[in-house]
Amino acid sequence: MRVLGIESSCDETAVAIYAGGPGLLANRVHSQLERHAPHGGVVPELASREHIERLLPMIRGCLVDAGLGAQAIDGIAYTAGPGLIGALLVGATVARALGYAWEVPVVGVHHLEGHLVAPGLESGAPQPPFVALLVSGGHTMLVLVSGFGAYRILGESLDDAAGEAFDKTAKLLRLGYPGGPALAALAGQGRAGVFRFPRPMLDRPGLDFSFSGLKTAVAVTLRGRDLDLQGRADAARAIEEAIVETLVTKALRALDATGLDTLIVAGGVGANQRLRRDLSVAVAAAGGRVHYPRPEFCTDNAAMIAFAGHTRLVAGEGETLAVRTRARWPLDELTAPRGVAAGGPWTRSS
Ligand code: KG4
Ligand code: ZN
Repeated sequence: MRVLGIESSCDETAVAIYAGGPGLLANRVHSQLERHAPHGGVVPELASREHIERLLPMIRGCLVDAGLGAQAIDGIAYTAGPGLIGALLVGATVARALGYAWEVPVVGVHHLEGHLVAPGLESGAPQPPFVALLVSGGHTMLVLVSGFGAYRILGESLDDAAGEAFDKTAKLLRLGYPGGPALAALAGQGRAGVFRFPRPMLDRPGLDFSFSGLKTAVAVTLRGRDLDLQGRADAARAIEEAIVETLVTKALRALDATGLDTLIVAGGVGANQRLRRDLSVAVAAAGGRVHYPRPEFCTDNAAMIAFAGHTRLVAGEGETLAVRTRARWPLDELTAPRGVAAGGPWTRSS
């Protein structure tokens, strides 16, 4: 079954085609970064508009990449949530309109299930059960994955996500948007021990996260100071250390609590080098292993949506929206619906 995947939950417009046997046949991602950067964050209305402009040309492009015509698509999967509502509606409407026109089933996919299955797009992926650390701009979550569709949230962010913490503190350091990668780069030149910021909720048991206090602590520390480049680098390093140490400690706790030894990392913050290094060292020391998907499958993409949707569509999930009419229709093809007696509607008059 060849599945067209559509992702439009936030500021990436993405389209992919996945087939069970050969795997990924096409995979295009358009980042809307340039559109949002002047505003210092994602502007929902601009995101929706750019999805509208980009989706159809990208779908045509993916069909060309895969060497397929539209009639070769057997099903469509789109991100149904969670995300920006206007942005989601664009992808959902395009997916359902195409499903209607092409007379193929359409299924709505949970964006985070996409992230959880993404490692399976490559060979050598860990099999469930495992613990997943989801760290994107919008989510920080530890999830026990015991199988496909069997997810238990072990802990999650009560306020800002880790990515948001990077982005908001980067803004305080005047690093532009998105701040995560810029802050990480600057932190590389920072000196250890010049600043120290709180590790939120580490002193308490449990697996939830809270990063808004860190942002406040950074704001208070920086207020009224005019730091030079070295000073800002020192602060960036301390911020990165606080976020990474919090994530590593809670991930270890999650492995310990579940008795599992495998951790997968998903989401954009998974690109952070300090997180990767510290997490790998800490989990290995505890006798476990960490799996990182390739960067393009770690950040938002449609391959993961097509992949999760494929499993659901093959199992019979999904709706066919086509309006069916037939110019020729032999009467003796008909059978009675289950549970309808031979008397059928005639018994009504008796
Ligand atoms: O999963 P993702 O690509 O997309 C959305 O959430 O939409 O995650 C983006 C987040 C942003 O907050 C960005 O600042 C952060 O991931 N990020 C990083 C790094 N690269 C991306 N944070 C820290 N260090 C990085 N190297
Ligand atoms: Zn995501």
